[in-house]
Amino acid sequence: MKNILNAPFMVEMIRTTTNMYAHGWDERNGGNISVMLEEKDVAEYLDSDCVLRTIPTGFTAPELDGRYFLVTGTGKYFKNVQYAPDVNLGILRLKDKGQQADLLWGYTDGGLFTSEFPAHMMSHVARLKVNPENRIVMHCHPANLLAVTYVHTLDEREFTRTLWQMCTECIVVFPEGVNVLPWMLCGTNEIGMATAEKMLTARLVVWGQHGIYGAGKDLDETFGLIETAEKAAEIYLKIAHLPRINTITDEQMHLLEKRFGIKGREGYLD
Ligand code: 13P
Ligand code: ZN
Repeated sequence: MKNILNAPFMVEMIRTTTNMYAHGWDERNGGNISVMLEEKDVAEYLDSDCVLRTIPTGFTAPELDGRYFLVTGTGKYFKNVQYAPDVNLGILRLKDKGQQADLLWGYTDGGLFTSEFPAHMMSHVARLKVNPENRIVMHCHPANLLAVTYVHTLDEREFTRTLWQMCTECIVVFPEGVNVLPWMLCGTNEIGMATAEKMLTARLVVWGQHGIYGAGKDLDETFGLIETAEKAAEIYLKIAHLPRINTITDEQMHLLEKRFGIKGREGYLD
């Protein structure tokens, strides 16, 4: 067996959690990530018959039976992942209609997967329906996006249009826009189902007064999505209290659509 700490998915996960912490998106234990792994990739590093513990998930997701996930642990700090990946991360395989997870590696202090596991797994199910290449669900607490949810309407069209107007490339990076949930109790199946529903139409879902979820085919794409939305939110907060003299017009957005071969969310542009 090869050393799992050298596995590309592990190296990338450690780099990403470290980078997210450095961006200030993951204070204390804030944020969580799940990466869907291929069985053949895991088999190079782990004996998949060797189950350390079986953990009930508290939800049902038959679509994910037999799927492998690398997941951050609940209560764990992103800043510490690089120093103790085996304590802060775990590798799980779902079974029994997603109602149980076999732990194959990690959580060595007896820990558990993130409290947002329902939102992650239900979002994987939703995004796989839209794009079979989806592998990542990422949640974090970026300050500017969070701040915008206190002073801006949470109407999805309005919220998306505001972010699109803040940087020329926003509409190119997330043409489907940003979906938004009002404040809900986190860590529950209810917020998991609501997030998954929103994930059917966009890769970014803002949780009012809490943070954001991103989904994508790899960690780079997903990080980049959140990074772009967060940058737009930062610019909004810099200008929101000032008279707006210039903006990116809908006409200019249509030029971007043509130039980059993308299509903004139906009905979001005039
Ligand atoms: P966990 O420590 O359980 O991952 O929770 C962090 C968080 O961001 C909850 O929304
Ligand atoms: Zn959170």
